[in-house]
Order: sequence, then C-alpha cells, then structure tokens
Amino acid sequence: MAYLALYRAWRPQIFGEVVGQESTVTALRNAVREGKIAHAYLFSGPRGTGKTSVAKIVAKAVNCDKLADGEPCNSCSACVDINKGNFMDVIEIDAASNRGIDEIRDLREKVRILPAQGKVKVYIIDEVHMLTTEAFNALLKTLEEPPGSVVFILATTEPQKIPKTICSRCQIYNFRRLTAPEIIERLKQVAIANDIHIDRAALQLIARRSNGGMRDALSMLDQIYSYKGGDISKKDVLDVLGLVDDVFLARLMDAVFLQDFSSVIKMLGTALVQGKEAQQLVREAALYLRDLLLYMIMGEQADFSIISEESKTVIEGHKKRAEKNKIIQAIKILIDTADKLRFSEGQKFLLEMAFIEIASLFGAGWVEKESGAAQDIEVPKGVLEEKKKKTPARESLWNKILTGVKEKKIPTHALLSQGKLLGAKDNTVFIGFKKGYKFHKERMEEKANREIVETVLKEILNQEIEVQFIFLDDERYNNTIVKKAVEYFGEDVVEIKD
Ligand SMILES: Nc1ncnc2c1ncn2[C@@H]1O[C@H](COP(=O)(O)OP(=O)(O)O)[C@@H](O)[C@H]1O
Ligand SMILES: [Mg+2]
Ligand SMILES: [Zn+2]
Repeated sequence: MAYLALYRAWRPQIFGEVVGQESTVTALRNAVREGKIAHAYLFSGPRGTGKTSVAKIVAKAVNCDKLADGEPCNSCSACVDINKGNFMDVIEIDAASNRGIDEIRDLREKVRILPAQGKVKVYIIDEVHMLTTEAFNALLKTLEEPPGSVVFILATTEPQKIPKTICSRCQIYNFRRLTAPEIIERLKQVAIANDIHIDRAALQLIARRSNGGMRDALSMLDQIYSYKGGDISKKDVLDVLGLVDDVFLARLMDAVFLQDFSSVIKMLGTALVQGKEAQQLVREAALYLRDLLLYMIMGEQADFSIISEESKTVIEGHKKRAEKNKIIQAIKILIDTADKLRFSEGQKFLLEMAFIEIASLFGAGWVEKESGAAQDIEVPKGVLEEKKKKTPARESLWNKILTGVKEKKIPTHALLSQGKLLGAKDNTVFIGFKKGYKFHKERMEEKANREIVETVLKEILNQEIEVQFIFLDDERYNNTIVKKAVEYFGEDVVEIKD
C-alpha cells in the first residue's frame, strides 16, 4: 500500500472535524442546511489552516445525496468521487502554477454548461491572488453574472493582492492560525491512531514551530516518525528538524546577558560541533529574544514561539535583566547576521561577532544595574570588619526556612538542605549550592519547589520575598553575585570551591 502522508490522510472530511475556524464552519454548515449557499466565497488565511479542506467539504455538501444536518455523508457516489478527486463537477484550479490564463479562459467557456455528474459545479481556485490581470478580469465577468448552479471558492494567503472588485462579489471568511493547544490536541489524536508514542514536550515543540499551520505540524510529525519510528522525544524533534534546544538557548542568553564572553564563545563552538547551522542558531536566538520581548510586554498572554515550560524559569530572570530597546537592537543585529550568513564563508566568525556584539549591548545595562545595586546594599561598618564571623541571625533564619519547608514537603526539604543561605538583598534571598549539587539547584528552581520556599519565607519575614538559587561553582556568578556575597558574608559561609 502506498504511504499516505499524514497531513493528507488526516484531512477533515466533514465540518465537524475541522479544528478551530468555528465561526466560518458554523456559518457554512448553516448555509448548507438552509440551502443558502452563496455563489462565491473567498477564503483567506495562512497556509495549512483548512481553506482547501473546507472548500472540499462545501463541494461535497452541495452535491451530496444523503446530507445529514448540514454535513456531507462521505459515502454516496458524489462524496466518494470528490474525495478521490474524480468528480467532473468539482474543478480545482491552482492559480500559482501557470497564473491561470488558460484555465480561466476555459472556465469562461464551460461555466455555463450544466453540471454533468452532480447538482452543483464547484470551482476551487487556490492561490487566487496569483492570477494575471486578464484572468482576474475574466473571472470578474463570470462573478458578475453567475450561472445558477455554480459555486466559486477562491482561496488565498494574500488577500491584499486581490482586486476589490472581486472581493466585493464574494462572501469572505478569514481562516486564523491554529493555537498550540489546538494543534497539540490534533497531533495527539493522529499519534494515537498511528501507534506513535510522543511525549508532551515533543508535541509542544512541534506545535510551537508550526506557527499555527496544521499542515506543517503534521508534516513535521511525519518526518520525525519516518526517521525515528514510533517513539518520539523532544530530542528527536530537535535532531530531525535541526532545531536548537530552547534550554540551550536560554543558557546561551544567560551568558550573553552576563557578558560572559568566554562561555558564549564556548557554547557557540559546541553547538557548531554538534552540527547546528550557524544561521539557525542566529535565527533561533532572535526568536528567543522576540519571545522575551513579548513576555515583557504581555506577560502570561505572550504566545511563545521558542520558549517552553522548561526554559520558562530562566526567562523570568532575563526579563529583569534586559531592557526592551536593547533587545530590539539585539534582534536587529541577529536578523542582519542571519542574512549575511546565507552568503558567507566565515560562518563561525560572523556568528561569534554577532553574539559578542549583542553581549556588549547588554553588558552595559548589566554593569549599570550592578553599580546601582551595589549602592543599595547597606553595609554597616562593623559588619564589614567582622565579616569572617558567623552571623547567628542568618543561621537561625536558615533553620527556620528548612523547618518550614520540611513541614510542607519532604522532597523539597531534601533538596534544599544541601544548599546554604548566602544572604539577602532588597527582597531577594540568595541560596547557594556547592559544586556537585547542580542537580539540587536546578530542581529547586522549578516552580513548585521555589514556591514552597517563597511561601515559607513570606510566613517568616512577613513580606513578599523572591529566592534566587546560585550555583557556587559557576564562574559567571563568581564574578558578580557570589563575589559580593563572599565580600559580605565571608568565605566560611560562601564556599566557592571544595
Ligand atoms: N483547521 C484544520 N483542522 C484540521 N486539520 C487541518 C486544518 N487545517 C489544515 N489541516 C491539515 O492540513 C492539511 C492541509 O490543509 P489545507 O486545508 O489544504 O490548508 P490550506 O488550504 O489552508 O493551506 C489538511 O489535509 C489537514 O491534514
Ligand atoms: Mg490550500
Ligand atoms: Zn454524500
């Protein structure tokens, strides 16, 4: 049996199977039910959102012998032939292929001939914006005096290119991009039916990357499935599609924001060695910043294209560190570089330069904030002189925190107890983890664990407190926060190396 691409096998066959596009589908189904189908429709919207599928459902509905509640039956001979593409009275014209001159001429000659096989002739003209002026004029003439038993369905991704005179003769329906949850739901359905096991992170990644187009989402699933088989993880999706992991991007941007040039260069080198394309890296970094910018502007309402639940914790920190106008500048640099990378030989060099340039951009911001923050720390004279002494207040606070956390959740306590209270600045409490406890730190950063600590702190200190977990072996932090913490609290508390 010939392999049928998933997106074709999963074309919606009745209105009820169309995902999203609720108002369009309802209106058309009602029109079918009431026998009030118009002579001409214009379906506009991005690719892979259901325009052709809905056009075919309409074509079946107006020719079906056993219409049930506005839905075609898919079993009468008209439905079966339309599904196979063998129905004489459903004529599909692809305006993109030869700009439609011959077809439209043909259409003008034949449009008045009565349907041969069915009840209504349906012309589906895809990518209608590609028609030549003459073809548009010919089409317009036909639309001006539509014959009785003909329905035109024009579909386009670029409605602005269609003459007003044509638009005004059509009922217009706008197809919208599908949301990530809508796409995920459909992918799940397809996966189950095909015995494909795919985890949630992988589904999310595909949904985000499909940019609201169901066809692309299904094609991606298809591609990964045919390559990796029926067990699909997020890593498989990244590998097959050549995408850059958003968690890696988050780390890379971390280094960028901290102006940690050496880590930036190292990470870029690793990515290249792992076979990532320089251009892809740059484009995805730009998308990451786009997500960050949207998040700064819209908060939880932002519709991310890259950032997943996994990298979400990191973006919170980035949000605080970056400034909007600098992000915009950085995005411009990255887009510019992506452009240059298409033609250039010196891939690695260009890549490095771009990231160093944007790191410098944010560096300035970071340094400014740094010095500002430094003034905020009030260091009473005595404390500085006695900095090597342990401060009992901090120890008892730490014990209180641990006890409070233990009461709430033992596993969280188990993780946290490996850390150390470094101190507090403004409304932030810093907790450090030594070398070898990176896992603990990362787990503590997860929302659920972090919230427990923050709740306990609120109970103890009676104010909103934010926790920041620090990996004490991380060179980057050594330069900044940890160094300050050491200065302030003494090395006996802040152990940097074992
Ligand atoms: N709204 C939708 N609901 C369900 N599947 C869809 C939808 N839109 C697109 N698809 C999937 O994508 C494929 C191509 O869709 P199509 O209707 O040809 O999109 P368009 O004409 O808008 O580019 C379909 O066969 C189907 O598998
Ligand atoms: Mg189409
Ligand atoms: Zn039928």
